[in-house]
Amino acid sequence: MPEAPLTPSDTGQLPLIDSVFQPTQNEFNRQKFVSALRKFVLVDLQGQMHQAYDDLEVPAYTAAHGHAPVNGREADKAMEKNPISRFYSSIRYNTQEMVWESVREPIERALPEMIDISRRAAHENPSGGSLRLDADLKVPRYVAEVDVHLIPGSFHTEFTADDVAQGAIAAFGAGVFSGGLVWRRDKKGRFGGVGESVAAYLSRKYPDFKPRRILDMATTSGKNLFPYKDVYPEAEAYGIDVGAPLLRFGHAQAEGYGIPVHFSQQNAESTDFADGSMDLIVSCFFFHEIPVKVTQAILKECHRLLAPGGFMVHMELPPQKDLNPYMNFFWDWDTINNNEPTYTAYRSQNPTALTLAAGFEKRNCFEMTIPNFATFGEERFNRFVKGELEAPAHGSGGWYVFGARK
Ligand SMILES: C[S@@+](CC[C@H](N)C(=O)[O-])C[C@H]1O[C@@H](n2cnc3c(N)ncnc32)[C@H](O)[C@@H]1O
Repeated sequence: MPEAPLTPSDTGQLPLIDSVFQPTQNEFNRQKFVSALRKFVLVDLQGQMHQAYDDLEVPAYTAAHGHAPVNGREADKAMEKNPISRFYSSIRYNTQEMVWESVREPIERALPEMIDISRRAAHENPSGGSLRLDADLKVPRYVAEVDVHLIPGSFHTEFTADDVAQGAIAAFGAGVFSGGLVWRRDKKGRFGGVGESVAAYLSRKYPDFKPRRILDMATTSGKNLFPYKDVYPEAEAYGIDVGAPLLRFGHAQAEGYGIPVHFSQQNAESTDFADGSMDLIVSCFFFHEIPVKVTQAILKECHRLLAPGGFMVHMELPPQKDLNPYMNFFWDWDTINNNEPTYTAYRSQNPTALTLAAGFEKRNCFEMTIPNFATFGEERFNRFVKGELEAPAHGSGGWYVFGARK
């Protein structure tokens, strides 16, 4: 009988933390179903809801108020009793809960092994990264007092010593969350599409820009930081977050993938990095989850940390000012329904005004939508960089970003 192939643990290498997540066939089918249901809600049902808004609810609202809805709040009012909208909302809420639930049991089974791999990674750092945790860090209220986007335990909770569970939930849950939406993927089939696309854009548009240090704020477990190391292999990569279990998991994952990343548990409002120590600061899906005054403080911190000539690029939801009332109603759904109470307040801001207030110069600020590199295709992406093609809308194959060069 042929011998079983050596597993990474037999060889003394660090096993991939992903490899111990082994859903049963039933669990796998359940995850596939949830991904498909999410796609159905966000694409098909949402399309029908949009149609109902245009055909039925705008005329009804106009008849009652003398004008069509002028903003997201009025569009929301117009849709309040619409049956498709209510059905959409109810299914979407339940699907969100099902995402996290669909990965919980396989994570619970694998947890002791995952913790073991994470401990080994922290001890050995075989790929040259590091993990620095701060047991005294005060997790901000806006993370600790809500289960952000309905993840039980939010981003920070630790249920056992050296816990990685919230990192695993966020990482494997993201696979289910985005599983039906191909345009969120990167070339490796992972969900680092934002990082890969921003890095592809910067390296093509500014070929002389060679960052020595890259910082990803609110990195969670680093999935949108990893692609920068493909594009800028010489750069040192830093990822910060307030959630220790996320960082433990991300660090173990990075060490297993062979990507050196320096993870540290820090509040992005005030980090311990030196003035001017970073050449590129990025974030994604961050500011809509925190109070506006915290965003203001973080943008100032970016200004402090950036070296002259450095870039900050934040991927976020497109602001209200750029979208029509229906789309604002659609995007702001999460504020009330998805435990993201600061979502609408963030979207009502002007990102460039926030950037200027942090000390950047107007001529160096930008707001734009970048296509998702892997799904748009390299040839078309290059034409986009040359200004020959437009990006798809944010959320449908494009990523809205804003930022500045210092
Ligand atoms: C939606 S997630 C970000 C997703 C991540 N950027 C990615 O691409 O996978 C929001 C993250 O912000 C982190 N966070 C919230 N407030 C923070 C703060 N003040 N400083 C650093 N991280 C923070 C949370 O712990 C959470 O991991």
